[in-house]
Amino acid sequence: MSGFPTVRARRLRGTAAMRRMVAEVRPHPADLILPAFVREGVAEPVPVGSMPGVVQHSRDSLRKAAVEAAEAGVSGIMLFGVPEEGKKDAVGTPGTDPDGILQVALRDVRAEVGDALVVMSDLCLDEVTDHGHCGVLDAAGNVDNDATLERYAEMAVVQASAGAHMLGPSGMMDGQVGHVRAALDAAGFQDVGLMAYTAKYASAFYGPFREAVNSSLVGDRRTYQQDAPNAREALRELELDLAEGADIVMVKPGLPYLDVLRAIADASPVPVAAYQISGEYAMVEAAAERGWIDRERAIEETLTAFRRAGADLVLTYWATEFAQRLRSGT
Ligand code: PBG
Repeated sequence: MSGFPTVRARRLRGTAAMRRMVAEVRPHPADLILPAFVREGVAEPVPVGSMPGVVQHSRDSLRKAAVEAAEAGVSGIMLFGVPEEGKKDAVGTPGTDPDGILQVALRDVRAEVGDALVVMSDLCLDEVTDHGHCGVLDAAGNVDNDATLERYAEMAVVQASAGAHMLGPSGMMDGQVGHVRAALDAAGFQDVGLMAYTAKYASAFYGPFREAVNSSLVGDRRTYQQDAPNAREALRELELDLAEGADIVMVKPGLPYLDVLRAIADASPVPVAAYQISGEYAMVEAAAERGWIDRERAIEETLTAFRRAGADLVLTYWATEFAQRLRSGT
């Protein structure tokens, strides 16, 4: 017994060609969805300081970004509207105004790319309310679940009318998928899909998103978003969303919840998405800026991790850049 190994795992790691051959998952441009912000009333894109490389688009620059994403092979774009400050109110009126910025952007992007991208929109109130919560508040200042559902139903029809292929209900209200589904069906939008934010956790990593949508949140979202210690709850949310008609289910944030992603991927009969959120993006960019990590390798490693953990789709602010890289083979 020499003590030397007879099984040598290193054989399959010896060359780039060997590693490529045995890779279990391969990120592909078609797996990617680009989240994009569009701001009302700006002629030029406005950089988001805490997300280097990400901007609040003007209508023009958004159209260009959509074309660029489609050309890179990205599958979808998820739009977030940023209304002019004075227009936000307690019930989120810009969310149901047919000329609200999100609806305008949906029409712009559909006119530009047609069906070349799956055009999606965030279905939530936090971008349009002056208090920054994902719903309307009751007299005590708590988010009123059922009154919020009525607002989501109206918003859904307005977004569908503006041309969205798929909506992303992201407010974590109970019954939101079913309520929105019924409203869409009643209005003749049976073919507009729902990508449900199924397991969405109350996370510190949403920080930079607040700047991206100019949100001034009072308090936090812990009474409606899930609590970090709980994974089983995500499976219950999955059952409910499926029963209510979700077409795609999503886990969010990404990296801190890979175990939840794996559990959902194992249980879900519909496609599963992961959302690599603003704070995850910011951490990599900030560390890379300081020279502390290799930016390109870190991006690839995180996007590979989502696929390995079972995601069919990944929403990432690097979607276009990474798709271009995959295509160029570098
Ligand atoms: C809700 C919504 C949020 C994000 C996407 N949709 C914010 C929140 O729930 O607090 C966060 C996205 C990100 O951080 O990148 N409209």
